[in-house]
Parts: sequence; structure tokens; C-alpha cells
Amino acid sequence: MKKVSIGLLGMGTVGSGVAAILRNNSLDINTRAAAEITIKKALVRDIGKKRPDLENILLTDQPDEILNDPEIEIVVEVMGGIDQSRDYILRALKNGKHVVTANKDLLALHGPELFATAQEYQKDLYFEASVAGGIPIISAIRQSLTANRITSILGIINGTTNYILTAMTGQGRKFEDVLAEAQELGYAEADPTSDVEGLDAARKLAILSSLAFNSRIGIKDVYVEGISRITPEDIVYADELGCVIKLLAIAKNLDDQSGIELRVHPALLPKSHPLANVAGVFNAVYVTGDAVGETMFYGKGAGSLPTGSAVVSDIIQVVRNTNFGANAMLVHDHYRNFPIKSSAD
Ligand code: NDP
Ligand code: HSE
Repeated sequence: MKKVSIGLLGMGTVGSGVAAILRNNSLDINTRAAAEITIKKALVRDIGKKRPDLENILLTDQPDEILNDPEIEIVVEVMGGIDQSRDYILRALKNGKHVVTANKDLLALHGPELFATAQEYQKDLYFEASVAGGIPIISAIRQSLTANRITSILGIINGTTNYILTAMTGQGRKFEDVLAEAQELGYAEADPTSDVEGLDAARKLAILSSLAFNSRIGIKDVYVEGISRITPEDIVYADELGCVIKLLAIAKNLDDQSGIELRVHPALLPKSHPLANVAGVFNAVYVTGDAVGETMFYGKGAGSLPTGSAVVSDIIQVVRNTNFGANAMLVHDHYRNFPIKSSAD
């Protein structure tokens, strides 16, 4: 079987999820990719930090050991930030490596430059984990819904704020306490202001809308209001009205003259609305297309394994692309031989 070496930039919440999935599901993953995928090296900031579950992974604090290693075919950027990650991704692409990233901040700001570079150097740049964690919403919009004129996107696309609002609503807990818990669980951004002020959801909405409406939409195009001013009293009043408060991301394709309306803000939702029941770290995205009608995608929007699931699926797809080109989705040249039990057994 062909061997594919990957290099990780970052080995925190998402990176360790990627490592765990590659370790635990290697048989299925390698069968689907028709290749043995291994992490050759991972970049971290603090090489001395104790990482009990990652003892078998070679760590470095020198990015060149990954970016300039000719054996590494895929660079996986899960370190976050803007300037350094932009520099590393551009260098990886220019050095002939495919890239998988979870970095919505970077894509919302420098997406056009990164995609143009990937195109120029004919390399893949995949980013499923950048929006809604484990939900395959990017591939749905990029592939399965491309026949449609998308008319609207309505979603809960930030796990941290949904986790906070759910706990404030159901358990009457304090904003600050639940935010600290979301940080401990690895849901929140390095600077959680991005989550609570709605910027993270706005960046994700910019990415989704750029794909859905074939446009270049940046965060400056999105009206943004976060949840930091929501009080326990607001939640009680909402309840008395038969509603819950959710941070919604909304994109509407009005018409060719009026353009696209984009906003992220807290909204009152009747308890009977399907999005009202999306609780905790779960996200949900409604996409309406003129042909398909309404579709809804639901799942965990943050966390180590759900996000790792999206990253590893991208890695597999990139390997398939390099193995099989345009037929990547159809061709398998490796099978697992499970014993098959018929229902009569
Ligand atoms: P963490 O802070 O948990 O991990 C970041 C990792 O990158 C750490 O290993 C850190 O090293 C390393 N790192 C950071 N900056 C540098 C640097 N300048 N040089 C070298 N190494 C560096 O972040 P997450 O895993 O939570 O997030 C990573 C990315 O994934 C972000 O872009 C985030 O927005 C995105 N994302 C996160 C999700 C989540 O649920 N957490 C979900 C979806 C996307 P060290 O370990 O030494 O500190
Ligand atoms: N901080 C983000 C969230 C991580 O809470 O949704 C997933 O993108």
C-alpha cells in the first residue's frame, strides 16, 4: 500500500483529535484512502509541555522541519492565528504540498489569496472543519447542492455561545462560569471574545456565503452582534413568551438587484422551532435551495474529535484525489473483508 506522510502545524484540541482518529480508525481510513497515512511530525509552540496521549508523535518547534520536508505531502494547519499560519500555508503550497486547514479566521480574511495560490501551484486546499466543526456543511454546499440557486442559510454555527445560552436557559447558570467551562472543554477560541461577540460565527457565515452565493464575502460585509449583553432576565422574559434566545447566523439571497443580506445576532425563537432544540455544543444549519427546498444539517460544532473528524475526512479526500483524480469518489482498490451475517443467522 502507498504511504502518505502528513505534517501537522499545531497539536492542541483539534490536532490531538486528528491524531486520535488516525490512530483509532487506521484500518478504515487507510482502506478508504488506499494509502497508509501517518503523521511524520507536528509543530508546537512549547516542545517541553507534557502530552501523555501523544508520546509516539514526533514534535518540533521548527516549522521548516515540516514545510521543507520533501516526504511530507499534506500539511494540516490546526494552530490558529493569522500571520504565521498564512505564511506557513503559502510556503507549504509553494513547496508542492496539499493543505488542510480548520482556520476560519484566516480563510475569512485571506481566503482569496490562499485559494489563488493553491490554484497556481495546482494543490488542494481543503477546509471542512472551518465551519460547524464535525458537520459536513462545506462539502454539502461545494458538492451536493451545487445544482441549486441557494436562497438562504440560517444556522447556529458557534458551539461556545450555544453551550453558554443553553446552560443559562436550562440551568440558570452564570455566563462567566459556563464560558470558563466551554474553554476547558476546548470549544472556545484562544481569544473567546471572537465567540461571545459573534465574530467567529460571522467569519463562518462569510465562508459559507462565499461558497453558496459564488461571491467574495468578508467579515466586514456581515452585521455582527454577540451574546455578551444577554442577561438572565432576558432569558426569563424569552421563556415567558414561549421562546428561547439563540445566536443566529443568517444569509439571504434577496434578488440580483437587492443583493445578499448577512447578519449574526441573538434572536428570539419560538420553542417549537427546530433550531430552538439545538442544545449545548451542537450546531445546525438550514440551507434552502430553489430545487431541493429546505435541508438541515446537525451535529457537534466544536471539540477535539468532532472537529478532528472533519479534518481527517479532508485528509482522506486529498489522498484520494492524488490517487484517483476526478474519479476519487468512485474508485476503491482496497477492501476490507468483513464476515457478513445475513439477517437469518
Ligand atoms: P489550541 O490552542 O488547542 O491548539 C493550538 C496548537 O497550535 C497548539 O499545539 C500550539 O502549541 C500550536 N501553536 C499555536 N501557535 C503556534 C505557533 N505560533 N507556532 C507553533 N505552534 C503553535 O487550538 P485548537 O486546536 O482549539 O484550534 C486550532 C484551530 O482550529 C484554530 O484555527 C481554531 O479556530 C480551529 N478550530 C477549532 C475548533 C475547536 O473546537 N477547538 C473547531 C473548529 C476549528 P502548544 O501546544 O505548544 O501550545
Ligand atoms: N470556537 C468555535 C465554536 C470552535 O465554539 O464554535 C468551532 O469552530
